Amino acid sequence: MFTESPARRALRRVVRAADSFAAPHGVDRYVEQVVPTWSSTEVRGRVVAVDRSAVGSTVLTIEPNGNWTGFRAGQYTQLSVEVDGVRHTRCYSMASAADGSKAFHLGIKAHPEGLVSQHLLAHATPGMVVGLTPAAGDFHLPDARPERTLLVSGGSGITPVLSMLRTLCAEGHAAPVTFLHYATSRDAMLFRDEIAELGRTFDNVSVVEVFDDGSGDLTGFLDEAHLHAADPQWSDADVFVCGPAPLMDSVRRHYDDAGSIDRFHQEAFTLPMFVGESGEAGGSVRFATSDLTVESDGRSLLDQAESAGLTPNSGCRMGICHTCTRSLTCGTVRDAVTSEVTTGPHSEDTGVEIRVCVSVPVGDVEIDL
Ligand code: FES
Repeated sequence: MFTESPARRALRRVVRAADSFAAPHGVDRYVEQVVPTWSSTEVRGRVVAVDRSAVGSTVLTIEPNGNWTGFRAGQYTQLSVEVDGVRHTRCYSMASAADGSKAFHLGIKAHPEGLVSQHLLAHATPGMVVGLTPAAGDFHLPDARPERTLLVSGGSGITPVLSMLRTLCAEGHAAPVTFLHYATSRDAMLFRDEIAELGRTFDNVSVVEVFDDGSGDLTGFLDEAHLHAADPQWSDADVFVCGPAPLMDSVRRHYDDAGSIDRFHQEAFTLPMFVGESGEAGGSVRFATSDLTVESDGRSLLDQAESAGLTPNSGCRMGICHTCTRSLTCGTVRDAVTSEVTTGPHSEDTGVEIRVCVSVPVGDVEIDL
């Protein structure tokens, strides 16, 4: 774990104590004018390097302030930046070894519609200060390292599993580790050189690349033959998967069929496409607080609210951070990640809390937004 020096910890305690005398803004608001990463309570980080060598991606090296308490290999942080005067937050996994180093890498693929990822691709520079949250997430290496490990990723899903690979290598883990990655092309693969180097350096590490243009070690989509080619004993390996939903579903299915589902671990960073319920997607969405009603188009309530001109709080937009939680006061929604169905309260005065970023309306709904 990353640890702060005793002197800085003591200073932070003094500032917290002084905070009550500096109302209405608190000491942080004065100190940050001089040291932008300073905060007695918030986690912030300074970008110390920016690398755009992988096509369409940005790799940030970030030095967090003393409120950062480190991370476990595979976990994420919520990064906040201001875009056109509005603060936006997204979840990104650390790509570095969880070895207690002060700085860490975030690998951020710019999605065509990605407000934050496109902003960072265009504007991130060394010296930029970003908001962070303490590392979180259940998708991480277990304390008892697996006897056989298979890391599978697609596109930007590479970052948490790369953190696992780097961590195992840094620890001198000697058991077999296979890294199977899917990308559109060599040039689009994040950290390609570093991963190849790990494969060359460590005898127990095998790297298998699959590219859409057929130039990798294997071709096509993940199937049992791919798993077998990557590791003939794949069903005995603990598998950690992060990437597009079809990739994760495919690995899950093969592990299920092989009777090894207890070895399957996945990150839920990629949402399935929002598809309206057949025969049920119609209907209206009423944003009660805003006194606004729109025809449902089958997308998430967050997307529909924003298209209607509303600006609800949101963070990860993946159902992880709960920033977007609102009350469903009437109607039924389906969770796009779990497919779970939630129906609004029968009593008129209480709502059911839902995360609007992953909730798709099923028929007429009303929400306190
Ligand atoms: S924005 Fe994070 S859970 Fe909805």
